[in-house]
Amino acid sequence: MTRIFFLAAWVAASGSLCDVGAQAARFPPADRPVAPITTPAYSTEAARDAHGEAERVLNRLSVKPGMRVADVGAGDGYYTVRLSKRLGPGATIYAEDVKQPHLDRLAARLTRERITGVTLVHGTPSDPRLPAQSIDLALLAHMYHEIEQPYEFVYQLHGALALGGRVAVIDNDKPTENHGTPPALLRCELAAVGYREVDFLLLAPADGYLAVFAPPEALPRPEDIRPCRR
Ligand SMILES: C[S@@+](CC[C@H](N)C(=O)[O-])C[C@H]1O[C@@H](n2cnc3c(N)ncnc32)[C@H](O)[C@@H]1O
Repeated sequence: MTRIFFLAAWVAASGSLCDVGAQAARFPPADRPVAPITTPAYSTEAARDAHGEAERVLNRLSVKPGMRVADVGAGDGYYTVRLSKRLGPGATIYAEDVKQPHLDRLAARLTRERITGVTLVHGTPSDPRLPAQSIDLALLAHMYHEIEQPYEFVYQLHGALALGGRVAVIDNDKPTENHGTPPALLRCELAAVGYREVDFLLLAPADGYLAVFAPPEALPRPEDIRPCRR
């Protein structure tokens, strides 16, 4: 049965509203437009599969049984269901999203398709709220440009990565206001938090690119993070 992993309300978990404001102020805001959240899915699953998107991405990332993977910004779960097939019984999969209605739709889909072993996580715009050191791979597909607080988000994501863990971003090479992230901007923003790009692949004939990052051994102080200009 799908496990629901709803963490405590973030205000309660983070202390008073003043504390929350102080924490947010320590991180720079994105110095470029942030795309609004519009839909829980990118394109159509049929079109993406016809172009071999997930197959290409999961092969390049060497995703295999035993790996613990988070589908961050899972939406309707294009990657969640394909991860479940690839990782097999006993898989550790987190499907995280900032929108509760998107998680509700995904929970219904998982039940309908009899997919088990997925833990749903309700994150915030600045923290995916995944358990500490719980994942080998975080997959951020067609959502990076919608993260309201990208520096704090990838900073918090660091704590969820197990030793040797990686962060994989799939996006279109378009301005962020047009629901993409130019690769140079992505590299700059991740590097500002200490991440290092270790792989890059254009996904044609599928849309966009895959960029893979290794986390830093030590994070910078939030107040030392310098935002990138586009
Ligand atoms: C265009 S959909 C893509 C969904 C899915 N990853 C895919 O490839 O089809 C973007 C998703 O990211 C989610 N999202 C946006 N900002 C987020 C954030 N800061 N944390 C988690 N999810 C976020 C949205 O709610 C939405 O479900």
